Amino acid sequence: MTGKVEYYFKHNDGTHIQGIGLGTFASTEGDCERAVLHAIDVGYRHIDTAYFYGNEAEVGAAVRKKIAEGVIKREDIFITTKLWCNFHEPERVEYACRKTLKNIGLDYVDLYLIHWPFSYKYRGDNELIPKDANGEVELVDIDYLDTWGAMEKLVDLGLTKSIGVSNFNEEQLTRLLANCKIKPIHNQIEVHPALDQKKLIALCKKNGILVTAFSPLGRHNAELRTPTFMYDGKVQAIADKYNKSIAQVVIRYVIELGTIPLPKSSNPKRIEENFNVFDFKLDAEDHAILDSYHNGERVAHARQAIKSKYYPFNVYSACF
Ligand SMILES: NC(=O)c1ccc[n+]([C@@H]2O[C@H](COP(=O)([O-])OP(=O)(O)OC[C@H]3O[C@@H](n4cnc5c(N)ncnc54)[C@H](OP(=O)(O)O)[C@@H]3O)[C@@H](O)[C@H]2O)c1
Repeated sequence: MTGKVEYYFKHNDGTHIQGIGLGTFASTEGDCERAVLHAIDVGYRHIDTAYFYGNEAEVGAAVRKKIAEGVIKREDIFITTKLWCNFHEPERVEYACRKTLKNIGLDYVDLYLIHWPFSYKYRGDNELIPKDANGEVELVDIDYLDTWGAMEKLVDLGLTKSIGVSNFNEEQLTRLLANCKIKPIHNQIEVHPALDQKKLIALCKKNGILVTAFSPLGRHNAELRTPTFMYDGKVQAIADKYNKSIAQVVIRYVIELGTIPLPKSSNPKRIEENFNVFDFKLDAEDHAILDSYHNGERVAHARQAIKSKYYPFNVYSACF
């Protein structure tokens, strides 16, 4: 055990969540199940998956195994998953959620998010990025407010405890808040030193919405040695000061920006390392150094949807 995290947040609907979660994007074919099993043993009680990742079944299998072993009870673990862009028509939302629950093998999830504010044409459950004869992604203009209305019904049906959004910019979030019955409990957005999202985090906080931070390590790539902040001597010096790794310093920074990070790893040692970030605190000087990497560069651009009227990153203030 790496040390228990007594670090929980309360949502605007009364539910609770652990202040760090295991990311699972690109974690598949056995790796994902092994990662979730290990994460639960280490102490993670918050797992992030999505229909798009194709690994809901592995996440569910691991969680069910740990429940069967008596390591956790269902109510101890918070599972987030996401509605993919081809299921945005209101009449398809319940179908998509039930399909997800079948994948996971549980009666409910804790949080169901609209993965992106833009929509794709539905061409079957498995055609996740439909393309026309010219190879262009087939976008459709479904208003996310209509999708949200169908998401609200899922809470009434007990299929998810809570609902939220992901990749919504300030304007989209403000419009949603002015037109919803149930407020989103989360906006899941990209956050790391190169994209600190201070403005959007402040808006969420003001409205009682928690931010989960995806790609907190800037989707670290050891072969390409990217992003820069993962290889910089200045961050290494901060890490040395606290006897931590660069990854731990970066995750801690993302926490101290006021968010819940979702570092992804399929490696047992790194799963533990990423969790072990609650026994130190960065000082103002460390923050100034980490702030200096902010340049607005994204890992997840979703440029294939740039022509959608609901594409979230055309708004300058979405980055700064
Ligand atoms: N809502 C959305 O649109 C959205 C978009 C992207 C991601 N997400 C969620 O956020 C999660 C995290 O984002 P991400 O997967 O894009 O990127 P990330 O967590 O920033 O980075 C993952 C990469 O960092 C490596 N890594 C993990 N821990 C490390 C450590 N301690 N030291 C060095 N390298 C380390 C991983 O390799 P190993 O596995 O080999 O350790 C993997 O290559 C996703 O898995 C997903 O759950 C959501």
